[in-house]
Amino acid sequence: MKILAIETSCDETGAAIIEDGQKILANVLSSSVKQFEEYGGIVPELAAREQIKAIIPVIDTAFKKAKITPQQIDAIAVTIGPGLIGSLLVGVETAKTIAYVLKKPIVPVNHLLGHIYANWLQTSLNPPKFPFVALVVSGGHTDLILMQNHSKYKWLGGTLDDAAGEAFDKVGRLLGLGYPGGPAIEKIAQTGNPNAYNFPRPLINSGKFDFSFSGLKTAVVNFVRNSPNLAKTSKHQLGLKADNKQVIADLAASFQQAVIDVLTLKTIKAAQKHGVREIVVGGGVAANSALRSQLTTQSAKLGINVKFPEINLAIDNGAMIAAAAYFNFKPQSPLKIQSQPGLYF
Ligand code: KG4
Ligand code: ZN
Repeated sequence: MKILAIETSCDETGAAIIEDGQKILANVLSSSVKQFEEYGGIVPELAAREQIKAIIPVIDTAFKKAKITPQQIDAIAVTIGPGLIGSLLVGVETAKTIAYVLKKPIVPVNHLLGHIYANWLQTSLNPPKFPFVALVVSGGHTDLILMQNHSKYKWLGGTLDDAAGEAFDKVGRLLGLGYPGGPAIEKIAQTGNPNAYNFPRPLINSGKFDFSFSGLKTAVVNFVRNSPNLAKTSKHQLGLKADNKQVIADLAASFQQAVIDVLTLKTIKAAQKHGVREIVVGGGVAANSALRSQLTTQSAKLGINVKFPEINLAIDNGAMIAAAAYFNFKPQSPLKIQSQPGLYF
């Protein structure tokens, strides 16, 4: 079965064509993120305007890459939420129109489940094995879910304030590293000492599966604010001046280590509590190689296997939406499908 999937939940415009839930025939992504560097975050209105321009060319390119015609697809999948309302509307209304015109079934998809299903892509021989604990760790979410099978899952806990990716973005901005902060922090952290600063690990021993990253972010802000010797571009923001460079690398590495310690410990505890032998991770922060190696190593010691998507499939993309639709194939009437910005598990 060939599914065309459309994903426009945030700044990106993604269209993918996937066969039988795992084989990628095309996965096209256009992102307007560069344009938001100067703002330090996404401007929703501008993102949606770019998506209106990008959506048809991106879908066209996907068909060309897959070397099939629109009539040859069997179904359409679309992200209906969570996300930015203007952005979601572009994808959802386009998908509904295509489904209506081509008379093909259309499957609405929860973006958060999509991140989990990125782990099915390109893995015909070794897909995730149920039951498993999933960690969805992105710019908008940090959630732990127990998945018994494709249709039976239970939310175990999530962030009470900032998502992990959001904290990476805010600290990245504070350190003068631009937007998005995650990849930039990961890069500069490679030259820093993760033990240079002992930042808090919020809720690490709470015994529950909730997260909180706002206090950790504030600890980094307070450090910068109270360091008179650091060159600043504004009251709280560091400039990447030469004398700051090692401090920034150390701050980035220490902050990243605190986030990873919390994510690793809580995810493993969730797996142990529910007696599962597999952890499946998804979302933009799953691209972080320090998280990938620490979670994998510590889980292996306990006999728990960890799956991460390929790095380019961890961040938002259309392919994961097609995979989620294939394994949860519940088409709906195009007239009933609507954008749901606040959708959750
Ligand atoms: O899943 P995603 O592409 O979009 C959302 O659904 O939010 O995740 C984007 C988030 C951003 O906050 C970004 O800073 C973070 O993922 N991110 C990373 C890395 N790559 C992206 N965080 C840490 N390390 C990375 N390598
Ligand atoms: Zn996402």
